[in-house]
Amino acid sequence: MPDTTQQSLLEEINAEIRVCTKCSLHESRTNAVPGSGPVNADIMFVGEAPGFHEDQHAEPFVGASGKYLTDLLAGIGLKRSDVYITNIVRCRPPGNRDPFLSEIEACEPYLERQIQVIKPRIIATLGRFSMAYFLPKAQISKVHGQPVREGGRVFFPLFHPAAALRDPGLRDVMAADFQKMKALIEELEQNPPDDSPPPPKPKQLSLF
Ligand code: URA
Repeated sequence: MPDTTQQSLLEEINAEIRVCTKCSLHESRTNAVPGSGPVNADIMFVGEAPGFHEDQHAEPFVGASGKYLTDLLAGIGLKRSDVYITNIVRCRPPGNRDPFLSEIEACEPYLERQIQVIKPRIIATLGRFSMAYFLPKAQISKVHGQPVREGGRVFFPLFHPAAALRDPGLRDVMAADFQKMKALIEELEQNPPDDSPPPPKPKQLSLF
């Protein structure tokens, strides 16, 4: 059962995100997209930024990438409602351009607060912006599909679903990486690490 205090803390954070004006992306957004999923989720997926459909619906990953993500989850027996899904940046960059470092920095406290409340066992990064935020030294070609333990957290770097939609050669890799994540979930269920809250990420915001 989700804890009601955790639930209300998460709702408080998400309400702040919906009215956030900390960076200029608020000027062009239709909706901010705080994230979706249960507060007691064991896995938190962190993508890049909302696109057109997400901006319209105020929900993360609801366009083509989202449909593919939903299929990948189904392939390992999970529903979207089993996991928390959010992004590094919560408002759509105009024309779907890459988010600026200043925008990532403005959004960073929300992500850290969500992580502190949700306490996911696994943070699955989707794409380079998310991975670079948490694991600035990692190279996706070397670490995708493998758990990386750092700062008391367990990360699981994945390619961005849009990359696999553009390059069908990556689809088998994505499916295999999800199977590896399933094995990790089972391992962590059997041998849970101690439940102490993860420490906040040290400040080191260099991208690439
Ligand atoms: N791509 C992302 O990185 N996030 C979304 O929410 C949708 C597409």
